[in-house]
Amino acid sequence: KLKVGILISGRGSNMAALVEAARDPAFPAEVCCVLSNRPDAKGLEFARERGIPALLIDHKAYTSKAEFEAAVTEALVAHAVDFVCLAGFMRIVSPAFIERWHNRLINIHPSLLPSYKGLHTHERALADGVKLTGCTVHFVRAEMDVGPIVAQAAIPVLSGDTPDSLAARLLTAEHRLYPLALRLIAEGKATVNGETVDIAADAVDETARL
Ligand code: GAR
Repeated sequence: KLKVGILISGRGSNMAALVEAARDPAFPAEVCCVLSNRPDAKGLEFARERGIPALLIDHKAYTSKAEFEAAVTEALVAHAVDFVCLAGFMRIVSPAFIERWHNRLINIHPSLLPSYKGLHTHERALADGVKLTGCTVHFVRAEMDVGPIVAQAAIPVLSGDTPDSLAARLLTAEHRLYPLALRLIAEGKATVNGETVDIAADAVDETARL
């Protein structure tokens, strides 16, 4: 099985979705540890309750990003992690960290990339009047919210939607998409080919759906 570490900063609902998916013995990945950079991250409790090592590496305890990230990598390696999922991890990772975990580091972002990189995705989508938005799981590259796309899910924007209502509706799609993307990678059905991801023919229908 693919040995996965999950990095969070807060609520951790996507992390929880991955942990729940991995409880199925048939799931091809196992969650070795959950790591937060914030002591108050709710997700740490969830992991702890399920017997998954829940680690706190507080970025404020380090004088540089390089030292913080070195501690993160050390903790991941100590837990035998060979693949990393960012799940609401709200620190920008450095090129050195991305290089260390090259093609073994994915993220979930609450927009249909390459639209709406960065923060406040739903405010901007509403202001633009788009009628579909969604979420993207992608491999991480040095540029923020850029990188080979593994899978996307779309949801309609409804009249009366607010950033909060959109975020809440999107979250249920995220919780389906992230485990799907991780499963396809772990099964070898989603493979990085330069700056895009090749999807096995029998998995294509799963990786782009409403
Ligand atoms: C999710 O909506 C995720 O897509 C987003 O933060 C939320 C985390 O929720 N990620 C980003 O905005 C990354 N820039 P969670 O902690 O409950 O998984």
